[in-house]
Amino acid sequence: MTSSDAFREDLAWQAHRALELGRALCACEGRHHWSYAVLRAAGITSIGSEEPLMASLMTPLIGDHARVMIGGSADLGLLCFVGRCAAARNPRITVIDRCRAPLALIEEFTASRNIACRTLRMNLLTLDDREQWDVIFLHHTAEFFDAPSRAQFFERISASLAPGGHLVCATMSAQKLAPEKQAELEAEFRGHTVNVFRQSPLAEREDGPELERLLGDYAKARAARRMGYPSDDDVYEDFRRAGLQILSEHALPVKWTFSKVDAAPGSIRKFVIIATRD
Ligand SMILES: C[S@@+](CC[C@H](N)C(=O)[O-])C[C@H]1O[C@@H](n2cnc3c(N)ncnc32)[C@H](O)[C@@H]1O
Repeated sequence: MTSSDAFREDLAWQAHRALELGRALCACEGRHHWSYAVLRAAGITSIGSEEPLMASLMTPLIGDHARVMIGGSADLGLLCFVGRCAAARNPRITVIDRCRAPLALIEEFTASRNIACRTLRMNLLTLDDREQWDVIFLHHTAEFFDAPSRAQFFERISASLAPGGHLVCATMSAQKLAPEKQAELEAEFRGHTVNVFRQSPLAEREDGPELERLLGDYAKARAARRMGYPSDDDVYEDFRRAGLQILSEHALPVKWTFSKVDAAPGSIRKFVIIATRD
């Protein structure tokens, strides 16, 4: 049995290794997998302070030897979160991503800690129902799809859920913004991340100018994603059309107080939906 201790993360090591793997393997928009682990190590993104709430939702859903799919994972964070929740139940974890870089990081990590975990490099839109999972965990992956492909994405996810299985989906909804707000959003996020990065111990260890360029690329891609966030109604309609029945919904705090664009109350919402197949 793997102990939950095996899932402790070393964020500084991960940031360094993710940069090396990102350079070699990631051609994603915004060079997502170069910068993501750096953002985490600087305390900017991922589950972080949401872990107690997320764990209270996730842990009861994972039974002994449950088949767990993590759909989209930028680094080790989601795997380690699931492991900390449920290592004692020996879950059979599969991590799916379209990019080789995070999967290579996961493979190195799991080999070094003797953790059983399967990685699959594939487009989540091509999932079919030949393999099904008891728990599917999506942590802000839906935001990577535009409206038509998001509907298709949830249909594929629904088809991949075993009867009686559960979907745990952390996602965002937001009010639509005027197109000219995109540049403002990008500048806000770039300014914020570069400041936080400069104050973090990573700034001394890594190549500062290269990282600041990467954070700029990331900010651009992130602002573009924010422009496409669905409304609440769009989210509920995607679930309904995919045959997913919402069992509960849980608000998460939105932390980026640096944003003027999204400062208006109700402008943006972050939440977790627990759903099952109709
Ligand atoms: C926001 S990340 C998830 C990050 C997550 N919050 C975390 O902590 O790792 C979304 C992931 O989904 C992956 N992704 C996006 N679209 C995909 C697709 N069509 N098929 C497979 N993976 C996809 C991206 O490569 C990225 O690693």
